[in-house]
Amino acid sequence: MLSSIKQYIDELNPENGIVCDLFCGSGVVSEYLLQQYDVLAVDIQNYSKVYCEARLTGGIKDIDCDRIASTIKNSLALKINLADYKPVLDYEEACKKSLEQGVLEPMYEIIEKGSLYAFLENLEYADSPLSAELGKAFSEVQKNIASRSESVDSVFVRYYGGLYFTYRQAIDIDAIASYAFEQKEPLKCKILAALMGAVNGCGQHCWETIRSAIKG
Ligand SMILES: C[S@@+](CC[C@H](N)C(=O)[O-])C[C@H]1O[C@@H](n2cnc3c(N)ncnc32)[C@H](O)[C@@H]1O
Repeated sequence: MLSSIKQYIDELNPENGIVCDLFCGSGVVSEYLLQQYDVLAVDIQNYSKVYCEARLTGGIKDIDCDRIASTIKNSLALKINLADYKPVLDYEEACKKSLEQGVLEPMYEIIEKGSLYAFLENLEYADSPLSAELGKAFSEVQKNIASRSESVDSVFVRYYGGLYFTYRQAIDIDAIASYAFEQKEPLKCKILAALMGAVNGCGQHCWETIRSAIKG
């Protein structure tokens, strides 16, 4: 596909003028064309800005991935979330063990109703109320997070933990995002782009697979 697109552009642009990639999205096309042309990449959405800044600004010399990983693993944001959300992390582990033994309902409830945001906002559940066990885990987390209930360092676990990712995955995503937002460009966008790619390709897919296995 990329080579076909470039072939058309080569024909239309024999003098190697600047190419304007309107609706550039992921920046994949712009990145490919950048091998030969100067490219102006445009998109209305911020996700595209992150991807394009990551793809189109060149590499970073001497990037120390191990040091970054170790800094994130030892970050205060991660430690605080692991302590605050321990009740749901423990409950999720127990549900996984039940799942392995063929008891599906507790894990299914997490996938359907595991949004801490919904609990904190007192939103209504469509069919039945929360089980006592999940409700207890949520109440304990609510006490733990206290003034951190709207922290920018726990957005993923509060909104998407349980539903789209395991709570543990969501806490790791929060830790990586928090670290990324503290960095200067271009490192910030490169980490965020890598995180978006991993999140889109892995987390949701993993949960959707479990969800359809349980429903099927
Ligand atoms: C199909 S995707 C882009 C495909 C792109 N070539 C790629 O490889 O990812 C369409 C993009 O158009 C963008 N878009 C939609 N309406 C727009 C507008 N009015 N101005 C700029 N971008 C727009 C969307 O944000 C989206 O990223």
